[in-house]
Amino acid sequence: DPELVAKGEKTFKKCKACHQVGEGAKSKTGPVLNGIVGAQAGAAEGFRYSKAMVAAGDAGLVWNEEELAAFLAKPKAYMKGTKMAFAGLKKDADIEAIIAYLQSHS
Ligand code: HEM
Repeated sequence: DPELVAKGEKTFKKCKACHQVGEGAKSKTGPVLNGIVGAQAGAAEGFRYSKAMVAAGDAGLVWNEEELAAFLAKPKAYMKGTKMAFAGLKKDADIEAIIAYLQSHS
């Protein structure tokens, strides 16, 4: 749905202080998010993740839509020990739109 992707691109402004996605994207404060939908957690090359994120990936966490939605709603409640310093997205509609946007780069 192109409209949802466009809405997600706008909402992604909340993430841009730390994350990049798209052509030429690099890891900064947060890991690059190209290909994140369907990827194993904690797997961006060269990024120094928290122990919690590495352990979650090793235990088999894959960022499908359901897991992403739960993480983005309340990162620190979802994953004790994550170093993602972000309170979370309150609106389900924003979460849905951001996931559609990330999916368009996955
Ligand atoms: C990790 C998404 C906002 C910093 C992640 C991951 C995702 C994500 C999917 C896991 C990546 C992976 O497993 O490779 C988002 C989205 C955001 C957002 C969609 C906006 C709604 C932020 C902000 C910051 C941040 C604002 C910085 C203040 C980080 C860091 C990690 C991370 C440092 C690594 C966490 C760890 O190793 O525990 N983010 N993020 N993120 N994000 Fe964000």
